[in-house]
Formats: sequence, C-alpha cells, structure tokens
Amino acid sequence: MSNNGPMQLAYEERGSGQALVFVHGFPLDRRMWIEQLRGLAKVRRCVAIDLRGHGLSAISDPDPVFSMDLFADDVAITLDELGADQADVCGLSMGGYVAFAFWRRHRDRVRSLILCDTKAEADSDEAKAGREKTAQLVREQGLEALWDGLGPKLLATDPKPDDVERLRETFLAQPAVVIAADALAMRDRPDSTPDLGGIDVPVLWVHGEEDQLMPIAGARATAEKIPGARFAAIPAGGHMAPMENAAAANEAIGAFLKG
Ligand code: MLT
Repeated sequence: MSNNGPMQLAYEERGSGQALVFVHGFPLDRRMWIEQLRGLAKVRRCVAIDLRGHGLSAISDPDPVFSMDLFADDVAITLDELGADQADVCGLSMGGYVAFAFWRRHRDRVRSLILCDTKAEADSDEAKAGREKTAQLVREQGLEALWDGLGPKLLATDPKPDDVERLRETFLAQPAVVIAADALAMRDRPDSTPDLGGIDVPVLWVHGEEDQLMPIAGARATAEKIPGARFAAIPAGGHMAPMENAAAANEAIGAFLKG
C-alpha cells in the first residue's frame, strides 16, 4: 500500500446507533478517549481511532510522510468500513486539525463537530521552526526527550498523578518516526480560520480552563467566529481536558448531542 493513499485505521468502539468518532492529539493514540467511550456509549456508537502509525494502526512506509488531509481521508475510509455515512467528529488539538481537514474534504459526512483544546490558525514561522526541532529531537533522542519538555504542559498546572502516568504511558508508546512525521504535518497544515464562518453543522467547542498550550481566551474568540457554536469551559482541565475532567467534558458533549 502506498504511503500516500488512504488506509483503514485501527479503532476501539463502544455503544450503538449513530457514529461519534474521536480523533486523538499529538503524540498520542485512541487510549486518551477511554472515559468518553465509557461515558458516552449510552448516546452514540463511540469510535476512537488510532491515526496511521499510532497505537494499533499500521504504517506502510518505514519513513512516513503525513498530512492532515491524509489523516482526514483515513477517517473517511474507516467510516466506510463502519458502515457510517455520517458521524459526529470529535478531535482534540491535532485531532481538531484533522477535524477541520475532514470538514473541508468530506463535509457531507459531518453531522456535527466537537472541537477540543485546538485552534484554527496555522503555525507562525517560529512555530514551524519548532516543529522541525521536534522532528529532529524525536528522531535522534526518542520520545522520552520530547516528554521532558512537552509532557508537563499537556496537563493542568497541578495534575493528578494518575493522569500524568496514563498520559506518559501512551505518549512513550508511539514510534519516533511517526511522531516526527506528525510534527512536520502540523507544520504544513493550512489556516482553518477562513472556514470558520461557513461551518453550518452544530459545533461544540470544549476547552480546559487551564490549557497551558492553547489558552482558553483565544479558543473562545475562535469559537465565536463559528455560527451558533456552543462553548464548554472545563474546570480542572488542561490541554487534555476530556481526559483530566471526563465528567465535565462528557456532560457537555452528551448534552450537545442530545440537544
Ligand atoms: C496536540 O496536542 O495535538 C498538539 O499540542 C498540537 C500542536 O502541537 O499544535
């Protein structure tokens, strides 16, 4: 299989009915959504995917090249496999970038969007240079070196030790070549800001009040550009708010989907 063609992804599912697909952040896998699968299976067929090369999903190329568009097309192929014409699409951070790409490329398949701890803007030149350093760091020194700098910023300022441990385990389990390819794909992602005003499906924006990477004020300003978008601020949650305060995130998502 060519690295540039869409591929079917590994996934974990719970519940029945209409599909709700969860797209994880960087550098993680489907396991970050375990509490959403537990808590939301009553309202939807919850499907947490592993993006290519992450978790249980394969890569076809030992030195892969990714893009948000390719990830989005993989999600579409996986929905075909699930027999789901449409889905509620929930993405966190990099998963949100994939959700924006999915909206651009497969909008007839989007029932609603749930955007968690993400942003619409493309990278600044400085951030792009940072992506290249990240790719080089993980290639040369592995995921441990990336965890040292990034791990603590992913959680709230006073994180629960269990959250740190769980996140660390998932983080360190990802292959370095895959995480380097993620970093370069994020560097090259387009600006999604021009799309915001044209999103005409229901949108819920979920954001940790203590997100250290993407401060909540900027997220609110972005959400206000999406017609009719609802916003849920998650207390005691950092960048991984749905994991850190699953009760509050699930309540917000459940109410949105029922409404
Ligand atoms: C993520 O959590 O997916 C990343 O922080 C996103 C990013 O680095 O832009």
